[in-house]
Order: sequence, then structure tokens, then C-alpha cells
Amino acid sequence: MSQPPRVAGRHFLQIPGPTNVPDRVLRAIDRPVIDHRGPEFGELGRTCLAGLQEIFQTREPVVIYPASGTGAWEAALVNTLSPGDTVLMARTGWFAVLWNDMARKLGLEPIFLDTDWRRGADPAGIGAILRDDRSHRIKAVCIVHNETSTGCVTHVDQVRRVMDECRHPALLMVDAISSLGAMEYRHDDWSVDVTICGSQKGLMMPPGLSFNAVSQKAMAANKTAKLPRNYWDWPAMLEMNATGYFPYTPGINLLFGLVEVVKLMREEGFDNIFARHARHAEATRRAVRAWGLETQCDEPLDHSAALTAVRVPEGHSADKLRRIILERFNMSLGTGLGQIQDRAFRIGHLGDFGDLQLMGTLSGVEMGLRVAGVPHRAGGAQAAMDYLAGNA
Ligand SMILES: Cc1ncc(COP(=O)(O)O)c(C=O)c1O
Repeated sequence: MSQPPRVAGRHFLQIPGPTNVPDRVLRAIDRPVIDHRGPEFGELGRTCLAGLQEIFQTREPVVIYPASGTGAWEAALVNTLSPGDTVLMARTGWFAVLWNDMARKLGLEPIFLDTDWRRGADPAGIGAILRDDRSHRIKAVCIVHNETSTGCVTHVDQVRRVMDECRHPALLMVDAISSLGAMEYRHDDWSVDVTICGSQKGLMMPPGLSFNAVSQKAMAANKTAKLPRNYWDWPAMLEMNATGYFPYTPGINLLFGLVEVVKLMREEGFDNIFARHARHAEATRRAVRAWGLETQCDEPLDHSAALTAVRVPEGHSADKLRRIILERFNMSLGTGLGQIQDRAFRIGHLGDFGDLQLMGTLSGVEMGLRVAGVPHRAGGAQAAMDYLAGNA
């Protein structure tokens, strides 16, 4: 088969993770590998572990795995739970479904609170189930902060409040894989027991690292948890981490990148980072409205700042639109996942991302809609531009 001709210009990677890696981070990674048991490494390890505490807003330990986010999901479950334990999860989208599948495969018994994939999990619904659970059969509440498949947020602080009101002792586990670094996240203030994250989204790194921030309550649960574990075991990890080392080979060069990420985030300021993401999300929604299209999220308070999932009109294919945009304009958009496959596409606006990149992205989508013959009104990119210019 002959290769399609090269498309000139930098590729636009506008999927909601992996995201664009800043050149400074790429350069930091591009170094000779060092001995992970040698004298130089300890300081690198300690710097990374301390930097992560700042990003997770925690004084508790953060564990780093050389794994993708799925590994950190598994680590959270196997470190705290025993076979047959009941966990409460919310079916907010595709990633919640995958986490639920994993829990079942591990021998847990999830209760799966349903949603229509167009909003976050309902804290009141979670509260109702917890109130009924007088024997405290439910050992953990597991929620996805930012459902990357739908662009809907579950409000962690509200879930925490409802758990406190019910005086329910379950652990709170939060998947912050596509929210951390893009949206406000407070592991300690929200009393989250395990926060799960990955390197390749708001943290602006290549895939390959994932994280568990671990509360003291989760550490206490670890002592009696009976699910088998070895690679993911927290105590073995934390013992070595005390001096900056790891029980097995860490992702050494990604850790060089992580040091640079922490510097970049401090230079911009966390509040500025969150405001930038919120502003880009608002500009994107204005574009979608002006096109006359619908966002997948239809609860105004639950819109994600990290991505926007856009529904295509009945009878049209989101995947065909994405293919045309890739071939014609050299831009990758996120595919619809699970029950919204081909019904929606996702615009990632998280990570290392500025106004002009957003305008390039939205222009590419608008041109693509036209080329693909998807019914829409012109002027979405203009609406975004008006907002950004008036809101610099
Ligand atoms: C919210 C969420 N959870 C979990 C995952 C799975 O992470 P990974 O693909 O890094 O294993 C993803 C990946 O996109 C995600 O967005």
C-alpha cells in the first residue's frame, strides 16, 4: 500500500491525553540513563516525590509506578480491599466501566450507580446508597473525577460531604487521571483516601508513569487487605521511597521530565493553570454552541475544563469527521468510546496549551465539519476568538 503524502506542519495532538509534551520536558528526558541504585538517583527520586505532593495538594505519600493509569487503578484496589468486598462505583462513562470491570475481575463486588453519561455522578444518589448500608458492607466509594469519555465532572468535594454526613467509613478513591494539573484538585482538603493519576494528561508528560496518593486511612486498610499484590504493594514502595529509591527499576528518564514539569507548573502558578483550562473550555463550548451542535455533557455545572465531547447530528459519523480532519488538517481528535462510539468526538484542551493552539484546533474542527458535510452553522471559531480576545 502506498503511504499517503506527508502533511507539512506540526501535528495537532488534540486528544484528551496523551497530550502535547512541552519542549523543555522533552529536553529534560533526553539524557543518558543513570543508575537507579547509584548516588545520583536518590535526590532525583526525592525531588519527584516532593513535587508530586505539591501537585496532589497533599502531605501524604505519593507512590510512583512505571505503569499507565490502569496500573494505578489496580494498585488502589489491591492495596486496600479483600476478595468479596463491596465497592460503590458510578457508571459515568467508559473509564468508569473499565474500572468497574477490573474490580469484578479482581473478585470485588461493585454496586454500579447508573447515569446517562451526560453528567457526573450524583452525590445525593451516592448518599442514599450509603445511608441504606447500615452494616457498612461498602468498603470503598470509587469515582472518576473527570470522565474523559464524556467531558463530565463528578464533584469530589460534594461526594466527600455526603459520605461525612452519612458517617460512612468507606474509603474514598478518586480517579484524577485527566483532571490533575488541569482542574483544581485537593487530596488532603477533600479527605480523599487514594487519588489515582497518570503522567500523560494534565501533567504534560509522555505516558509511562502513574501515581497513587495515599491517606493514612488507606495505609491502615492496607494492613488487613487480602487481595494478592506484589508489584503494586505500597509498603515495599514507601520503605524504599524514604531515601528516594524504588524497589524495582523506575521510569528514570520520565522522572527527569517530571522534575521539569513541577518547575513549569510552579512558574505558571496552579491557580493560573486552572483558570487557563477553564477559559479554554468556555471558549470551546461557545464554539460548539455557535456551530449549533451539542456537547455530550448537558449539565452546566458538570462541564470538564480538560476536554469537550461534541455530539454529531443523527445520521452523521463522528469517526468519519475525525478521519477527514486527520487527513486534511493533520489533527488528531479523541474518538467516541463505548456507547457513544461514532456518535461523538472529543476535543482535548488540556496540558501545555495556549490560545493560538485552541484557535488552530477549533478552526480545524470547523473546516472539518464543512468538508465532511456535517450540518452546522459557521462562526464557532469566531465565537471562541471573540471570547478569548475579550477575556485575555
Ligand atoms: C479517566 C481515565 N481513567 C483511566 C484511564 C486509563 O489510563 P491508561 O490508559 O493510562 O491506562 C484513562 C485513560 O485515558 C482515563 O482517561
